[in-house]
Amino acid sequence: MMLRIADFRTRARARLPRFVFDYVDGAAEDEECIVRNQTDLRALHLLPTCLRDTTRLDTAIEVFGQRWASPIGIAPIGFAGLVRRGADGALAQAAASLGLPFVLSTASNERLESVRASAPSGNQWLQLYVMSDRRIAEQMVKRAKDAAYGALVLTVDVPVSGMRERDHRNGFKLPFRPGLRTLADLVAHPAWSLSMAIGKSPGFVNLSEGEAKASPQLQAALLARTMDRSLTWESLRWLRSLWDGPLLVKGLLHPEDAKHAIAHGVDGIVVSNHGGRQLDAAPSTISALPAVVHAVDGRVPVFVDSGFRRGSDVVKALALGARGVFIGRPAIWGLAANGQAGAAAALRLVSDEIERTMTLLGASRIDDLQPLHVHKNV
Ligand SMILES: Cc1cc2nc3c(=O)[nH]c(=O)nc-3n(C[C@H](O)[C@H](O)[C@H](O)COP(=O)(O)O)c2cc1C
Repeated sequence: MMLRIADFRTRARARLPRFVFDYVDGAAEDEECIVRNQTDLRALHLLPTCLRDTTRLDTAIEVFGQRWASPIGIAPIGFAGLVRRGADGALAQAAASLGLPFVLSTASNERLESVRASAPSGNQWLQLYVMSDRRIAEQMVKRAKDAAYGALVLTVDVPVSGMRERDHRNGFKLPFRPGLRTLADLVAHPAWSLSMAIGKSPGFVNLSEGEAKASPQLQAALLARTMDRSLTWESLRWLRSLWDGPLLVKGLLHPEDAKHAIAHGVDGIVVSNHGGRQLDAAPSTISALPAVVHAVDGRVPVFVDSGFRRGSDVVKALALGARGVFIGRPAIWGLAANGQAGAAAALRLVSDEIERTMTLLGASRIDDLQPLHVHKNV
């Protein structure tokens, strides 16, 4: 029975070869940050306020003029096509079917135009990695504009890839070429292996045209997550000149960075530690959130991700001032378990939990959630 997000993870673990499951599930170095994300969330308790009329519960929020049915969205997941064929479109459709936003990764396995076309009514944002040849980013931003993406999300926490030890132990490297090590794994998961054996193996198709086509080393740079390390806050001006829609930065934790972001004209911030996949010594996002919210002081919406597994986790972040929460791995586990329907089921589970938690707290609207609902158990 799929009663909790952990059930989707269990199903995904059974369905996927070990190296694929670990690619999604794993985190950096000792995997302490990923644990911290959840233990810190659990250490916060919620204080209900009673005898409030919650007959008309409304979990909707408005962001950049768009309605989200619930304050959650799907975080960008690179190389999702490894989990299932057609993953990017399936995730976009799952989000759209629930009235939720979807952020497509630069490292998607389907072209950004076709993902957009697969869920035209959906609220879709594009996540941007900037690699050493900035013309690639320039092209992607232009294409995102032409394809009517609703916002651009610059990820700032990957100047270099975190050390994901599980991937190394599993011999999993990009570009993906199954070797002897993965063979037994593949044989043990015939459904996945067969589905991947038919047709081309997933590639970084967003980079396979124009400048990138002419430059295989750029594709290699993305594979190795070799980013442009000369990118600074000043570079936002360059992005601004290319993109006039909402611009967000994703992956900051420091309140001083939040101030830089605002000073450089961003429209939103995503507090993130990349789901524990980058700096293992980083704090949990729920512990970093209040200082960022304080520094931002209501000037732009602050979002958060990393480790949110329960509706009550989401409610805690909203009570502490987040506008919305992005969900990464749970959507992928749902996708692995049962395709688009599975991803939608995982998101629906979290939004149902948000509704129940709000009712139990005596809050009928998202704006009713306040710091007074959060009880620090120390
Ligand atoms: C398999 C995987 C791939 C990811 N790829 C990207 C990516 O391409 N771009 C990006 O900005 N973040 C990427 N992330 C980070 C997520 O967007 C998000 O910050 C993180 O997964 C949230 O934590 P959660 O998985 O605990 O919900 C990835 C995360 C995972 C698990």
